[in-house]
Amino acid sequence: MAAERSISCVKHLAESPNLSTIPTNYIYHTDPAETEVEASIPVIDFSLLTSHNPLHKAKAIHDLDQACQDWGFFILVNHGMPEELRQGVLEAAAEFFNLPEAEKPEFEPENVLSPIRQLLPEYCERSRDVVSKLSKAISQSLGLEETEMETELELRSSLQIFAANYYPRCPNPEAAMGILPHSDHGLFTLLIQNDVGGLQIQHHQRWFNVNPPPNSILVNTGDHLEIFSNGKYKSVLHRAVVNDKTARISIAMANGPSLDAVVAPARRLVEGEGVVAAYAAMKYKDYLLEQQSGQLDGKTMLKRVRIQD
Ligand code: OGA
Ligand code: NI
Repeated sequence: MAAERSISCVKHLAESPNLSTIPTNYIYHTDPAETEVEASIPVIDFSLLTSHNPLHKAKAIHDLDQACQDWGFFILVNHGMPEELRQGVLEAAAEFFNLPEAEKPEFEPENVLSPIRQLLPEYCERSRDVVSKLSKAISQSLGLEETEMETELELRSSLQIFAANYYPRCPNPEAAMGILPHSDHGLFTLLIQNDVGGLQIQHHQRWFNVNPPPNSILVNTGDHLEIFSNGKYKSVLHRAVVNDKTARISIAMANGPSLDAVVAPARRLVEGEGVVAAYAAMKYKDYLLEQQSGQLDGKTMLKRVRIQD
């Protein structure tokens, strides 16, 4: 997510007229034994999660629990985000990426903690609302009170980080990778994309292509949900492949706790007899800065706070 500056250079490179092979520093070979498969990824109906009908709501929370445990990933439908807004944000990102290189720095954030600028306050506000309701549902799916996660992690001043990713067309997609395998910091990430696939998630040691239905939002669990849930909801490894036909744009919205929150397993999840905290407490801000200072590399950062398996 910190690669925006280099991504715009990759775009420049990818559009050079005679490009037919990939410069060696961009070569990435996947293990040929790894197969990529289509899968039926869990679909969560947001309108049921927020339903006043207790049976509908309980069923949706149960499905959410399963999705977070099995996949760390789900497709959110009926989320209430207007389709024009979703499309508008993707178009705005496309406009940004198509600006001449010289005009881009004006819009670039200084670093990962810069406040969101630009054109996107409505999208951010709407996704904040989705995130707040999802957090309540996840708190319940963990067996906690609806507001327990919000209180413990100071979600009222939670951090949202917005990243627009541009994946140019690639002449030799088998030998490159758009974004390397990694897990996201924070609680969960909301992702939308133009109608071009590329995201893959790891499930039972295999990579699965994600082809979301129109007007949906993809949600993946992050490292801090793994920590808070004391390992019940593992953050999911994911990556993005490229293709030789169309450029792909995705917008990832990482949702963390408050920057000053010290994240540890939920108190009530580790108070029972014989239960121990499997992760050390760490301030979200310190975790984030340390993770972003290095290369994306699987779940390396999370392993540093892991105490036991
Ligand atoms: C990310 C990310 C995947 C995608 O930005 O953290 O994983 O499909 N993006 O663009
Ligand atoms: Ni990611």
